[in-house]
Amino acid sequence: MKGLVLSGGKGTRLRPLTFTSAKQLIPLANKPVLFRVIEAIAEAGVTEIGVVIAPETGEEIKQNVGDGSRWGVKITYIVQDAPRGLAHAVKISRDFIGDDRFVMFLGDNCLQGGIHTLIQQYAQSDYNAQIVLKRVPDPRSYGVAVLGEAGQIVRLIEKPKDPPSDLALVGVYMFDHNIFTAVENIQPSWRNELEITDAIQWLVSNGYRVYPYIHEGWWVDTGKREDMLEANALVLEEMTPRIEGEVDAASEVDSRVTVEAGAQVINSVVRGPTIIGHNTRIVNSYIGPFTSIDHDCVIENAEIERSIILEHCVIRDIPARIHDSLIGRRVQITRTPRKPQSYRLLLGDYSQVGLL
Ligand code: G1P
Repeated sequence: MKGLVLSGGKGTRLRPLTFTSAKQLIPLANKPVLFRVIEAIAEAGVTEIGVVIAPETGEEIKQNVGDGSRWGVKITYIVQDAPRGLAHAVKISRDFIGDDRFVMFLGDNCLQGGIHTLIQQYAQSDYNAQIVLKRVPDPRSYGVAVLGEAGQIVRLIEKPKDPPSDLALVGVYMFDHNIFTAVENIQPSWRNELEITDAIQWLVSNGYRVYPYIHEGWWVDTGKREDMLEANALVLEEMTPRIEGEVDAASEVDSRVTVEAGAQVINSVVRGPTIIGHNTRIVNSYIGPFTSIDHDCVIENAEIERSIILEHCVIRDIPARIHDSLIGRRVQITRTPRKPQSYRLLLGDYSQVGLL
């Protein structure tokens, strides 16, 4: 088995963060979603992984991910010139995959419990493809599957207005070499992309064996701020907490909090599940549940809850609680005592600010 991770795309729904960074590198509990994806594949015993990157964000991904040796895998980068769809990404990966069976994992998907059972099931089966499905209340923004009486896939539709079932396609797929014939035989969709859903439908229509794996744990496609915050909360809940940094006697830190090495919590209250990254200082502050503060930040006289704060931020002297927020790298949120009292903002394009 080989692995194929899709890490292109423009991430328009996470602007302005994605003007300067790849969406797959936004961290959940201080670890990029993409690293979690690579780890899940490595844990399943797959050691050769192709990562499909876009020209705009590919260099940053290469710099952060490297050659894969830290996970004991070998990474090959494959450049997709434009976002031409998931099936197009498969098409351009043919030389890398060869005749092997492979698992394809979307680099912005996060699912509970890894994928080793799934990979084992597929490796031992004679299926041509296996897709992961999850029952969701509203599947209209996903691919949707219809199952036959023997549990096989009979129909797949991409983002239907009127979904025929509640089974959404999770961004994890298993294929054998027949998928390469399928991607050659489909046409671009209304959004002018070669859809993987159409390629799998082609396999079904042409008599190949396509079966589902119904995922029972949680799954988040981290395309928007609210999804990132939700995934962050779920990942934090599963962490084994550890205190490696310093917590002074005046602080109150509960048992579900991780304080990384070199971090300091001074005269503050931190309620878990929460992570405080290395070399971050929390002073005279309240950090509430479901918050990830990355490394080298300073939080002083502030209250933050259910938020993701990336590295090197300074948040100081804020009179109201910051809540449900996703804050990029090196952001400064401070107060000036000078009159006239006013908001002074320097915001990138597409920033969103909710004032009291
Ligand atoms: C893609 C697939 C869709 C699938 C989803 C999972 O959608 O086309 O079938 O349900 O990933 O994350 P996209 O992210 O391209 O909108």
